[in-house]
Amino acid sequence: MSVLVPIPTQSLQAGDLYSVKGNVIVVTGGGTGLGRMMTEGFVVNGAKVYIVGRREEVLSKAAEEINQEFGKSGGCVIPVKGDISTKAGAKAIVDIIGSKETHVDTLVNNAAIQVPWKNPITTVEGHNDPEQVERLVWEGVEE
Ligand SMILES: NC(=O)c1ccc[n+]([C@@H]2O[C@H](COP(=O)([O-])OP(=O)(O)OC[C@H]3O[C@@H](n4cnc5c(N)ncnc54)[C@H](OP(=O)(O)O)[C@@H]3O)[C@@H](O)[C@H]2O)c1
Repeated sequence: MSVLVPIPTQSLQAGDLYSVKGNVIVVTGGGTGLGRMMTEGFVVNGAKVYIVGRREEVLSKAAEEINQEFGKSGGCVIPVKGDISTKAGAKAIVDIIGSKETHVDTLVNNAAIQVPWKNPITTVEGHNDPEQVERLVWEGVEE
C-alpha cells in the first residue's frame, strides 16, 4: 500500500526554489570585483550579506553604495573587516558574525585564493595527492 505524502508545492515554484530572500550570506572579498558583483546580486534579491576584506574603507564604501542602490529590495550589506589567510583571522570573522547571527545560509569563499603546493609553510608537496589536499582543506595551515 502506498502512502501519499503532501508535497509543499509552494517551495517547488521556481521563484522560491532559488530565492535568497531573507538569507544570511557571507562573501569574502565582497567589497570588490567578482565578490562585489555577487553581493549586489544577493542584495537585490533580498539577502543580508556580510562582506569581508582587510581594507575597512573599501568595505565601507562598497556597503554604502550597494545599500543605497539596492537596499529598497529589502536586502542589505554589512562590512566586516578581517583577514581570512590565517586561522586566527578566520576565527575573528566567525566570532563577529556569530555574535550577530544564529546561522549562515551561504558562504562564498571568493577571496580564498591559495596555491598550497607552492607555499613553503605547508606540508603539501603536490596537488595530485588527494589525501594531502584533503588534509590541508580540513586542517588548514598553521602559521
Ligand atoms: N577576475 C577574474 O577574471 C578571475 C578569474 C579566475 C578566478 N578569479 C578568482 O576570483 C576571486 C575574485 O577575483 P577578483 O578579480 O574579483 O579579485 P579582487 O577584485 O582582487 O578581489 C579580491 C577581494 O578579496 C579580498 N581579499 C584578498 N585577500 C584577502 C584576505 N586575506 N582576507 C580577506 N579578504 C581578502 C580583497 O580585499 P582586501 O585586499 O581589502 O582584503 C578583495 O576585496 C579571486 O579568488 C580570484 O583568484 C578571478
